[in-house]
Amino acid sequence: MMIPRQPYSFSGVVATLCFFFLFSFALHTLASPTLHYCRHDQRDALLEFKHEFPISESNPTANAMSSWNKSNDCCFWNGVKCDAKSGKVISLNLFGVFLNNTLKPNSGLFKLQYLQHLILYSCKLYGEIPSSFGNLSHLRKLDLLKNELVGQVPASVGNLTQLSDLSLGENKLSGKIPISVANLTKLRNLDLSNNYFEELPSDISGLHSLEYFYVSGNSFYGPFPTSLFRIPSLQWVHLEENHFKGPIEFGNISSSSTLNRIYLSRNKLDGAIPESISKFLNMEKLDLSYNKIIGPIPTSISQLVNLTYLDLSNNKIIGPIPTSLSQLVNLTYLDLSNNKLEGEVAGFLWRFGVVNLSHNSFSSFGSSFELEEFGEQEYVYLDLDIDSNLFRGPFPHWICKLRKWLRLSINLSNNRFSGSIPQCLRNFTYFPQALILRNNSFSGTLPVMSADASVNALDFSGNRFCGKIPESIGSLEELSILNLSSNALTSDIPQPLADLKNLEALDLSHNQLFGQIPPDLGKIHSLLTMNFSHNNLEGPIPQDQKFQDQNCSSFMDNPKLYGLEKFCGKTYVSNPIPKEEQVINWIAAAIAYGPGVLCGFVIGNVFISHKFRRINPRVVIRSAR
Ligand SMILES: *[C@@H]1O[C@H](CO)[C@@H](O)[C@H](O)[C@H]1NC(C)=O
Ligand SMILES: *[C@@H]1O[C@H](CO)[C@@H](O)[C@H](O)[C@H]1NC(C)=O
Ligand SMILES: *[C@@H]1O[C@H](CO)[C@@H](O)[C@H](O)[C@H]1NC(C)=O
Ligand SMILES: *[C@@H]1O[C@H](CO)[C@@H](O)[C@H](O)[C@H]1NC(C)=O
Ligand SMILES: *[C@@H]1O[C@H](CO)[C@@H](O)[C@H](O)[C@H]1NC(C)=O
Ligand SMILES: *[C@@H]1O[C@H](CO)[C@@H](O)[C@H](O)[C@H]1NC(C)=O
Ligand SMILES: *[C@@H]1O[C@H](CO)[C@@H](O)[C@H](O)[C@H]1NC(C)=O
Ligand SMILES: *[C@@H]1O[C@H](CO)[C@@H](O)[C@H](O)[C@H]1NC(C)=O
Ligand SMILES: *[C@@H]1O[C@H](CO)[C@@H](O)[C@H](O)[C@H]1NC(C)=O
Ligand SMILES: *[C@@H]1O[C@H](CO)[C@@H](O)[C@H](O)[C@H]1NC(C)=O
Ligand SMILES: *[C@@H]1O[C@H](CO)[C@@H](O)[C@H](O)[C@H]1NC(C)=O
Ligand SMILES: *[C@@H]1O[C@H](CO)[C@@H](O)[C@H](O)[C@H]1NC(C)=O
Repeated sequence: MMIPRQPYSFSGVVATLCFFFLFSFALHTLASPTLHYCRHDQRDALLEFKHEFPISESNPTANAMSSWNKSNDCCFWNGVKCDAKSGKVISLNLFGVFLNNTLKPNSGLFKLQYLQHLILYSCKLYGEIPSSFGNLSHLRKLDLLKNELVGQVPASVGNLTQLSDLSLGENKLSGKIPISVANLTKLRNLDLSNNYFEELPSDISGLHSLEYFYVSGNSFYGPFPTSLFRIPSLQWVHLEENHFKGPIEFGNISSSSTLNRIYLSRNKLDGAIPESISKFLNMEKLDLSYNKIIGPIPTSISQLVNLTYLDLSNNKIIGPIPTSLSQLVNLTYLDLSNNKLEGEVAGFLWRFGVVNLSHNSFSSFGSSFELEEFGEQEYVYLDLDIDSNLFRGPFPHWICKLRKWLRLSINLSNNRFSGSIPQCLRNFTYFPQALILRNNSFSGTLPVMSADASVNALDFSGNRFCGKIPESIGSLEELSILNLSSNALTSDIPQPLADLKNLEALDLSHNQLFGQIPPDLGKIHSLLTMNFSHNNLEGPIPQDQKFQDQNCSSFMDNPKLYGLEKFCGKTYVSNPIPKEEQVINWIAAAIAYGPGVLCGFVIGNVFISHKFRRINPRVVIRSAR
């Protein structure tokens, strides 16, 4: 239920403000001469309130209210602030004080009728919100965030007509939001997020001053709350993780709309993205992900020139990516993954920083990806994921033009790319952080990587790479995932792999590797999983505990490896070679792509191992015991 908040989320701001309040008040207490005198009715109400919370001495916040005693002016009590002239208590801030109790309907709190600010953030309050809050008619800020309050919001909250800030988020509140809340014409911030609320008033456009609207992480149902978008001052709308359904309808949008972000992800919204979305000219962040949205991406979306973040992923959006998206010069995050988009992918997209087009049916790159777009930019940040599309042809060479980057992560998995890895990547000082090429038809030898590369994940599995595992891989200090499985690699396991101090997962299975497993691999502290199965490895399985912690599937089908019975049980039958087919495919591809990609030596070796398999179609190891 809990959604991670934005860095400057409402509650974050509140917390910061609270802290500032407490701090500045402490300073004030020390510095100012005694000018205001506590009114006795106010003092008595505060003491009454204090005594509703028997605070045990063991409690770390027990002394939070120790200054609340009759020997000094109540206006100087911790967390209390008075009006300088009248001595009325106007602010009470008990941020983080462990109250550990319910709020009683006749609590002393409700006699502090002049309160303008009441902050009971994270005070371990439980039980219901008493309707007596309606007594505090001067309240401008009411913050009950992060408690364990249950039940409904009392209708009397609608009496607090001065409220500009109402925070009830992160409790266990439920039911309907009372219609009277729509009377709060001065409300600027409304935070109801992360509760169990179900129903909003059907018309909330009466909240004339609303700027920040957080209802994410609840059980709100019903149609999209169109009335909300009639509020002219609205800036942030967070409706994520609810059960809103039906089409998105914004109604009559004013051209002077100040709307800056709309987060609608993880609802049940359907219908198309309305063209009218283009009228929110100040929009910077738009998240419609995880709904059931259909239809194309409206070309008008390109009028949102301030857009920096666009997430339309996990819907049923169809058609091509409109080329007009190139006008979104401020966009840095584009996620269109898991839709039904298809066609060409234009080159300009790559300047967006994060580009996720995975699980669509894109077939090729547009002609324009020669990338003058990157221009004179010194550094490029790119997180490119085009996993599971229908791309074919050679490795996208334009990546070589990105000579300097802050971060480059490339996922080309599950496509039909072929040919060899471009020279630039073989000899690149700034190697990508992640290069995921899983399940394509790349061939040729593996790139030789340079020592200062900051790569942390290499996944070349399920291709047709041949030849040796380069020793230089051992110099990639940041590498944590290395997957070379299901290729046609023919070499020993290079000793320098044991230098990969940050390696967590190593998969070398389904190749034609020979020689022994280097025992030093067992000394890599971080290493958790390893897989050497389906090769031609020989000699003993090393004794190191790391190896002993693995199971049968990590070593099986290496006919010359011994000690297997310890992992695989008394009777171990290796799989009859599924590799045969793979090898034939590989040879076919090698022939198709010409001699440039062949690993001459390898071919012979493949045939040899192939022959070897023929002789030993089934390998049975019986326990000596
Ligand atoms: C009353 O509050 C003052 C000021 O914080 C404190 O010094 C004093 O010890 C308190 N008296 C009692 C009886 O708690
Ligand atoms: C909080 O209140 C409950 C119920 O009154 C009590 O059982 C518990 O000990 C209290 N916790 C602390 C830390 O005082
Ligand atoms: C509301 O305020 C009045 C004083 O105006 C007070 O007499 C009354 O007890 C308060 N109600 C509650 C529930 O505290
Ligand atoms: C709220 O206001 C209505 C009328 O405006 C009044 O009848 C009611 O008593 C008030 N509720 C509280 C709890 O003060
Ligand atoms: C508050 O809302 C209720 C219900 O919508 C309405 O009857 C009442 O007149 C409103 N009160 C004010 C002060 O606007
Ligand atoms: C839309 O709003 C404009 C200006 O606020 C107004 O003139 C127009 O009549 C409205 N249209 C509809 C259909 O409500
Ligand atoms: C876009 O952002 C800039 C800078 O924050 C701002 O001045 C401008 O008004 C915004 N809106 C449009 C439509 O450009
Ligand atoms: C969007 O880009 C334009 C042109 O580069 C710039 O003037 C504007 O300030 C940018 N808007 C934001 C919000 O950064
Ligand atoms: C791209 O989207 C897919 C599916 O929605 C997700 O699994 C993957 O982690 C995303 N990649 C990036 C780089 O965010
Ligand atoms: C790349 O795509 C694969 C295949 O769907 C996915 O499992 C993986 O999480 C992606 N890797 C990264 C680093 O995004
Ligand atoms: C490999 O990629 C193809 C698409 O090129 C896909 O159809 C197939 O399911 C993928 N295989 C695996 C095991 O993911
Ligand atoms: C690799 O880089 C070195 C120095 O950076 C350079 O001398 C060499 O020619 C490069 N090799 C290739 C194949 O690009």
